[in-house]
Amino acid sequence: MLEAHWCQYFSDRIEEGGVPSLLDLACGEGEVLRFADQVFAQRSEESPKAFCCDIAPAAVGMASGALNALPVAADSAALPFADAAVFCAVSQYGLEYAGQAAFFEAARVIGEGGRLHALVHCRGGVVERACGDVAGLLSAVIDSGLFGRMANYAETIPQAAAGTIPDTRARECVDRLRSALNAVGEALAVASPGPAREHVARLVTDCQTLAARLGHYAPGDVSTWIKGQKSDTEAFLYRMNSMLDVAQSEDDMRAVIGRLEAAGLTVEALSVLEAPGQSGALAWVVDAQRGSVS
Ligand SMILES: C[S@@+](CC[C@H](N)C(=O)[O-])C[C@H]1O[C@@H](n2cnc3c(N)ncnc32)[C@H](O)[C@@H]1O
Repeated sequence: MLEAHWCQYFSDRIEEGGVPSLLDLACGEGEVLRFADQVFAQRSEESPKAFCCDIAPAAVGMASGALNALPVAADSAALPFADAAVFCAVSQYGLEYAGQAAFFEAARVIGEGGRLHALVHCRGGVVERACGDVAGLLSAVIDSGLFGRMANYAETIPQAAAGTIPDTRARECVDRLRSALNAVGEALAVASPGPAREHVARLVTDCQTLAARLGHYAPGDVSTWIKGQKSDTEAFLYRMNSMLDVAQSEDDMRAVIGRLEAAGLTVEALSVLEAPGQSGALAWVVDAQRGSVS
């Protein structure tokens, strides 16, 4: 769906006369630039001078493979480009992370006749719903105390086996671990299929294997593994919560459009990119041009 949208967008720009320069804002690993690369390779003799811009230096490193884009590690709300330096700025689920001012900043760098096209997280849309489900599952894992209980188990059981602590302590920590695994199992049972459910299901299996075969592993490796799993799960939850935070309501989008118009852009009526099967909105579509919209 997203691919079809962007391929159509870039094909239309080629039909209109080409794209001298292209800036992907909050580009992540450069998905939009890869779509552009395909379209320009198939349909145009000339490729744009491309820039991939993201606040994360690792992301721009990866994105720069498409269209031979120049990597720019920068905040989209404070771009290191001169006024009117770019012909076409695009963003997919990106500008909203830098706040509404980033739309105004994108407008600043677009030259006469140039365009801005952004797909924006939509409040109440399918992406927000999916992220909410995933955040619920990952929060259940964190709230269950699984990681702390696993660490406690890994420390306590060898001591109980060596007879240096009473058996009651060992039983207590086994019960606490079991109840955490049960709580996670209940959350898993109602979770939607997808990478988060796979991640958590694998985590549960690995915890069970580790608990059953504790003596086979070096204590330092066990502790490192638990810390790694905890930080992966927290990072995953953080990404989901960030997406929930930046989902924009219709009023938010009207404010964005107001800012773009104030910056001298002509903005197409606000529209929505629908998910397949009428399951809801995938994104708001913002399409604007400096000068008259053709
Ligand atoms: C959901 S990802 C989207 C990435 C990419 N556009 C895509 O569709 O695959 C959001 C991106 O915004 C970036 N980001 C977050 N805050 C930013 C900011 N203030 N300025 C620029 N990029 C930012 C993140 O590093 C991340 O790569």
